Amino acid sequence: MERLIEGVRQILRAGRIVAFTGAGISAESHVPTFRGGDGLWRNYSPESLATAEAFESDPRLVWEWYDWLRGLIHAAQPNPGHLALAELQQKNPGRFTLVTQNIDGLHEKAGSRDVVKLHGDIWRLRCTTCGREGRNEQVPMEHLPPLCRCGGTLRPAIVWFGEMLPEDSWMRAVDAAGRADVFVAIGTSAVVYPAAGLVRVARESGAQIVIVNPDPTPADQLAQWILRGPAGEILPRLI
Ligand code: OAD
Repeated sequence: MERLIEGVRQILRAGRIVAFTGAGISAESHVPTFRGGDGLWRNYSPESLATAEAFESDPRLVWEWYDWLRGLIHAAQPNPGHLALAELQQKNPGRFTLVTQNIDGLHEKAGSRDVVKLHGDIWRLRCTTCGREGRNEQVPMEHLPPLCRCGGTLRPAIVWFGEMLPEDSWMRAVDAAGRADVFVAIGTSAVVYPAAGLVRVARESGAQIVIVNPDPTPADQLAQWILRGPAGEILPRLI
């Protein structure tokens, strides 16, 4: 492992770096992953609640889950993995981009800047009637489901299954992946598209691919470097 770590440290010294994160980086901050065994809430899987259909049929139920998740995230602190990425950005101004699938805001809490958020932000709400969007950090929510001043139902401004990614974030992510010299995929199962496709974009554009994950993922076959282990232990060793 030490030789692998040293090898990755070397390639991080020059060129453009993209870090691409998923729920696994927040696991050590006690935010449950989506596909981990502990990802169940009242016998619902997050995947079954994170859909427009679930919201349409029972907005209160979906909101109860997000309200619980917001409480959990509110209490969570960034872990050494988040902090290492913030430091990597600070040490490499102009050649580091952080792309995340996470909605928890822990990268910003750790000090990361200009985070490219592919799946939105749990602290932003959008009206399903008038489209107005804004920040809301109330924990717990006073009223479920929360209502817009126009009377419409508010939803979390996040991307649910079957929905489009925010176009500007996606363009930035593809652009960064296509120009990366090193692309580090951290804590993602790499099964949710289009986000997972960034690994291939980077690889086909000539980047070295590094995976940081305790478990195998389909992206491993594209990687030259596989660092098996928790992000909170591995990432600090890369700096
Ligand atoms: P998943 O829950 O699918 O995968 C989490 C990954 O993190 C798995 O590969 C784990 O092996 C790994 N992991 C667990 N603990 C870890 C640790 N301490 N350090 C590093 N890795 C660890 O989460 P995502 O890949 O982020 O979409 O899921 C992708 C998308 O699916 C999410 O953004 C979400 C979900 O539906 C939306 O919300 C739209």
